[in-house]
Amino acid sequence: MSDRVLICEVGPRDGLQNAHHLMPTETKKAWISALAAAGLKEIEVGSFVPPKLIPAMADTGEIVAHARTIPGIKVVALAPNLKGFQRAIEAGAHKVTFPVSASRKHSESNVRMTPEQMVEEVRKCAQFPHPGVEIEGAVSTAFGCTMQGSVPDDDVVRIAAGLAEFCDYVALADTVGYANPAQIKRIFKKVSSAIGSKLEAAHLHNTRGLGLANALAAYEVGVRTFDSSLGGLGGCPFAPGASGNVITEDLVFMFEAMGVSTGIDLDKLMAARKLMTEAIPQEPTYGHFSLAGYPKGFSAHA
Ligand code: COA
Ligand code: ZN
Repeated sequence: MSDRVLICEVGPRDGLQNAHHLMPTETKKAWISALAAAGLKEIEVGSFVPPKLIPAMADTGEIVAHARTIPGIKVVALAPNLKGFQRAIEAGAHKVTFPVSASRKHSESNVRMTPEQMVEEVRKCAQFPHPGVEIEGAVSTAFGCTMQGSVPDDDVVRIAAGLAEFCDYVALADTVGYANPAQIKRIFKKVSSAIGSKLEAAHLHNTRGLGLANALAAYEVGVRTFDSSLGGLGGCPFAPGASGNVITEDLVFMFEAMGVSTGIDLDKLMAARKLMTEAIPQEPTYGHFSLAGYPKGFSAHA
């Protein structure tokens, strides 16, 4: 197995969409630059949703344009429909991710479409000319939903297989932090058997403290791409009870301590964290590495 992982920082999108305080546009740009300087190669910088719905994402076009000036990073944005996809293409996003919930209730709350309608919306986007822009279908609430309760594995596999017909990548998301490591292994294996290498990322939330355990379980069944959020910001505003993502700095520390290279410099990552916490100081942030620091004699993977 490869000893490298790719970590996609989703704080500027998943983190700020759920924050109670707005981060000024110029600070967002500086934060994204600091994340890139720490070695993050993929950053989800915002979403193209109606600004009235999520005011924190109103400046995403300008943020994408800024991120595009940073060499060597893949600029990712979320879109919920064709209009959002067209805005993302126009702004210059390298990759667009679509939330396709496996739970009907969450899907209707989040995008006002059933899961099946949302798959068709993504198909429409895939058919729209998008030269050089990658498309990811992210199966939200793949491990359970606060509104529906349990989500059958078969629903997750069916939606993932539908998306794999026309998406470049498929991700599985534990939107509300219901997953456990055994379930992660079981569902990633099932989806992988159905769609093979199109299954790429694990998007995990730490709501019940199992974020790292779940990330490790996903790693053990072959996942090498992980979404996470600096300081554990995050959550879907349209999923009751949703809270922050798996914490980037703790995830980086875990992998580096295991000898798995992330390409990320933890000291520089902490500088990016400082910039973020100073910009939105009232926002709760989480993490153990930020409190405890390096173990004596620790050396990161070269
Ligand atoms: N960007 C900007 N404006 C958009 C838009 C987009 N992606 N999609 C729709 N709009 C505008 C429409 O033009 C219309 O404007 P108008 O009132 O001036 O005519 C208005 O928003 C309503 O459009 P409609 O197509 O009826 O959307 P809706 O009200 O049914 O909402 C979604 C559907 C998908 C746009 C909305 O539910 C959404 O953005 N969901 C994503 C929520 C989210 O970000 N969740 C967290 C991440 S998973
Ligand atoms: Zn999320």
